[in-house]
Amino acid sequence: MTSTHLFFVLVTFFLNISITFSTQLRPGFYEQTCPKAEEIVKDVMLESMMRDRRSAASVMRLQFHDCFVNGCDASLLLDDTPNMLGEKLSLSNIDSLRSYEVVDEIKEALENFCPGVVSCADIIIMASRDAVTLSGGPNWEVKLGRKDSLTASQADSDKVMPSPRANATALIDLFSTFYLSIKDMVALSGSHSIGNGRCFSIIFRLYNQSGTGLPDPTIEPEFREKLDRLCPDGGDLEVIGNLDATPFKFDNQYFKDLVNGRGFLNSDQTLYSLDPRSREFVVQFSKDQGAFFAAFVEGMLKMGDIQSGRPGEIRRNCREVNAGSIEQGFVKSF
Ligand code: HEM
Ligand SMILES: *[C@@H]1O[C@H](CO)[C@@H](O)[C@H](O)[C@H]1NC(C)=O
Ligand SMILES: *[C@@H]1O[C@H](CO)[C@@H](O)[C@H](O)[C@H]1NC(C)=O
Repeated sequence: MTSTHLFFVLVTFFLNISITFSTQLRPGFYEQTCPKAEEIVKDVMLESMMRDRRSAASVMRLQFHDCFVNGCDASLLLDDTPNMLGEKLSLSNIDSLRSYEVVDEIKEALENFCPGVVSCADIIIMASRDAVTLSGGPNWEVKLGRKDSLTASQADSDKVMPSPRANATALIDLFSTFYLSIKDMVALSGSHSIGNGRCFSIIFRLYNQSGTGLPDPTIEPEFREKLDRLCPDGGDLEVIGNLDATPFKFDNQYFKDLVNGRGFLNSDQTLYSLDPRSREFVVQFSKDQGAFFAAFVEGMLKMGDIQSGRPGEIRRNCREVNAGSIEQGFVKSF
């Protein structure tokens, strides 16, 4: 035990607050303490999808944006406070992430059944899995037992989250820093099998790719005409388009689209068009949905394992640190 750890344990003991460090994640973590947890999450996720089909995509995207920024700790869900700029307004998240209220609804339902037991970080993991399964994708057992962070950082999100302009080579490097392989990265990008993106995210590749003043030459011409009509130069950048041809169905259509030059985002299309190391997997997944599903599950499990090792708690409200927990300034001083 380091001296900071010891100090922390003593502080925790004397203030009688329940803050702990990262624990071993495992399936069935809530079997004794909240046996209905996974059923409740799935029910609320399904209700949400019946109101707004897109919410499946929007919720499952939260896992990526949470886990890549200081681990899967629900830091993403913290609202800004007067002394903390959170992640919701970071470059990749502002005007883009949605369906935070679905997580709130799940949390409320869980608090009714088993107050103070299920972390918001685990809710994101369970709901993401359910969103995929309920959209026709694979089902799998998730590992649970995460704690919720005591803080969040807009700057950390800006530093790590990739831009839609990113290319395959840069993404391979970024994902490798989280011990995610090229195969993991390509499979996880297959999450774009569901959901939408804004004209904001593709306008550069339609009219001025890499500052050339020209469109991205890898876009299939007929598809480019379609995108040009959706996103005219000087038009409304908030208009949305489909990330693949079947945006409500979790399947391998996304990879078939990439092989045909019909990827929506630059980051997607370059997986096929730019780097042979990622192309190999795009081609494989485009022909073999089973291989995609297996690799996707493995990638989601590995991404779900990312932890910061920082102290955490079970938040009562996913949007704010519990009252009585160590204040922001105090935690930062460790
Ligand atoms: C590989 C690097 C990635 C990049 C560069 C990227 C980028 C983006 C961008 C730019 C959008 C559209 C945002 C907008 O226009 O407002 C988007 C949407 C989405 N992303 Fe990614 N993403 C990546 C990986 C992932 C991963 C790993 C997941 C989940 C496992 C994911 C899940 C989603 C989903 C489901 C949507 C649609 C959300 C909705 O309809 O609300 N993405 N992504
Ligand atoms: C890919 O992105 C990296 C980082 O932005 C950049 O340095 C590189 O030139 C890009 N590669 C290509 C072929 O565009
Ligand atoms: C294209 O992008 C480059 C570099 O970002 C910029 O200098 C140029 O003015 C842009 N051209 C047009 C037509 O917007």
